[in-house]
Amino acid sequence: MDKLIVHGGATLKGAVNISGSKNASLPILAATLLTEDDCIIRRVPDVSDTNYMVQILNSLGAEVERSSGTVRIKCGEVMEVAPYDLVRRMRASICVMGPILARQGRVVVSLPGGCVIGDRPVDLHLMGLKALGAKVEMEGGDITLTAPDGLKGAAMDLRGTSGPTVLGTDNVMMAATLAEGVTTIESAAAEPEVVDLANFLNSMGAKITGAGTRRITIEGVEKLHGVEHTVIPDRIEAGTFMAAAALAGEDVVLNRLCRDHMIEVTAAIEESGHTVEFNEAGDRCVVRRGEILRGVELETAPYPKYPTDMQAQMTALLATTPGISVIKDAIFPQRFMHCAELKRMGADIKVKDGTAVVRGVAQLSAAPVMASDLRASAALVLAGLTAKGATEISRLYHIDRGYEHIDEKLLMLGAHVERLQA
Ligand code: UD1
Repeated sequence: MDKLIVHGGATLKGAVNISGSKNASLPILAATLLTEDDCIIRRVPDVSDTNYMVQILNSLGAEVERSSGTVRIKCGEVMEVAPYDLVRRMRASICVMGPILARQGRVVVSLPGGCVIGDRPVDLHLMGLKALGAKVEMEGGDITLTAPDGLKGAAMDLRGTSGPTVLGTDNVMMAATLAEGVTTIESAAAEPEVVDLANFLNSMGAKITGAGTRRITIEGVEKLHGVEHTVIPDRIEAGTFMAAAALAGEDVVLNRLCRDHMIEVTAAIEESGHTVEFNEAGDRCVVRRGEILRGVELETAPYPKYPTDMQAQMTALLATTPGISVIKDAIFPQRFMHCAELKRMGADIKVKDGTAVVRGVAQLSAAPVMASDLRASAALVLAGLTAKGATEISRLYHIDRGYEHIDEKLLMLGAHVERLQA
């Protein structure tokens, strides 16, 4: 298994291009199952999660070609059973469920297990698809959904105890595009990735309104057609590089991001004392490390509020920011595995009841650390950038799930990082 060695102390300078969004790419790739025509999707990041999705589509019968960020897919015929071996590796593979059900009237998919960031149920996905008329059965760890007479539009509220569900909204929205009649999703997720999927579906001929608000309306159509689409920038990768620049940078430029998707993350970086300056178009910014730094209070919540996927990276930044910071993760209260590793590097963090209290220390010191999930591993890389000595991060496959060529991008900015291949 690959390891990453981060030698602390280098100053980051220069510019980095932000990749296309992993979390937008995954449901958009799955949505190609809704048509037998060719679809071309651009700016799909080269990360292992999008590779898994391509493999899943292949195994479902799709013809897929991939080169330089462009994926061309033709799902001429679609099988109904998503293979367990591939599906179990990535929780987001659950988003093939809605499109296969809509196209074939039946789907069998493995129930995703829990993961280190929490229990992660799919009850809301199933509630929504049931409302559209699907019959749900569970056996041997598989979920089978059937709708032999087709799906029927319905009104539903997809709010769970932690708020809306992103992939649940995606699954129901995709299934409803081919249902008979009108579907209304109340308490829908409003994340930019949901809007990107709705735009993709609308250009395929779907009739969706309200994406980006809490109420999405979908008027079912008979058929969808092929389309070309460019995926939105990855706001979490952009936020991660913003945090890296704030920690260890000197006027770092981030290209190809979207200001409107970054409001809360930008505000948090600025509140801790750094400056972020966007160009007029909002697709480029310069991050300047501040001189007078201070702790902040953050609480993760559904979009447009502060994203849970930027909680770990911000915790790493605040670990060496003077003052006390309080970080609450209301979406995944167990998502603090990175704190134990940061503490091994000398951070002063106390975690209780889904909240981390961070007392900024002057400097962290390098230690061998273990990545526990995708964003936690990014936090460890950030911590290593300014730590004294060489931080050795193992289980690097977590970071490769969602950050395109992160070591090369950091090297281009002047960081001293090495990937050791096992
Ligand atoms: C997506 C993102 C993930 C991000 C998360 C929250 C992708 C591929 N992944 O995951 O990176 O961290 O949104 O912003 O886009 N819940 C239920 N029942 C359900 C579904 C979810 O109770 O059926 C709960 C979850 O446990 C969690 C909350 O709802 O507490 C939000 O989860 P959800 O938005 O569904 O996360 P994902 O879509 O899986």
